[in-house]
Amino acid sequence: MEIITFNNLVSTNITAMELAAAGASHGTVIHAIEQTGGKGRLGREWISIPGKSLSASLIVCPKLPVSDFSKITLVAGVAISEFLDREYSLSTKLKWPNDIYFSGKKLGGILSEAGGLNGVSPYVVVGVGLNIGQKKQDFDKKINDKATSLSLLLKRNIEITELLEKLFTAVINDLSQIEKIGFSTCFKKWRNRDMLFGKKVKMVSSDRKKVFGEAIGINDDGILLVRDDEGVEREVISGDLALLEE
Ligand code: BTN
Repeated sequence: MEIITFNNLVSTNITAMELAAAGASHGTVIHAIEQTGGKGRLGREWISIPGKSLSASLIVCPKLPVSDFSKITLVAGVAISEFLDREYSLSTKLKWPNDIYFSGKKLGGILSEAGGLNGVSPYVVVGVGLNIGQKKQDFDKKINDKATSLSLLLKRNIEITELLEKLFTAVINDLSQIEKIGFSTCFKKWRNRDMLFGKKVKMVSSDRKKVFGEAIGINDDGILLVRDDEGVEREVISGDLALLEE
């Protein structure tokens, strides 16, 4: 694995996508100390604080059919969640498709993007944003009571460099395991970490329709299923999910 650290980038995902298109190899990590235009899911912004946020993107060239690429975000989620639990004795959870939570508060998120899909070496960029050193007052007022950081949870200082390499090694290792044995073991682990399971959710689907129901976990394609109030199981392919009650 090669980690390339930049002092300042608009978005590590943007730079990683450019470098991947130019032929950067599997396992390259683009890390930014300062990220000024971080991208979140669904076109949202992702705010990073220099020295306190981990902002990095891993380039992978999966030996998998392109139709499986969207599942890689779930694989990365399991790898990161397991890594954090192992390394820091936590019990993190996952919120479909890509959020890492602890005790109902968001610790980080993953934004995966794919490229080169019609070429000989398609790639996926797995962008990871983790809250490491934030104090409570460092978070924006809007998310202050919904976000947490590793330092807040562990009540000690954590250096970003302490975990960067180990974190992405875990993702790369899990991905190569998937290439050999398929997704089912990983998805079983994902289901054990599913923080929405059995919860009432409101889903705003990509066609902007609102669906209310109960989250009943992911199917074998990594798609979240919601049983709506009429008992119909609906697939959440993309779109947004809000918890109605804790
Ligand atoms: C989300 O929760 O919506 C996903 C957030 C992903 C943020 C990370 S930070 C590193 C990488 N570069 C980006 O621009 N976004 C991802």
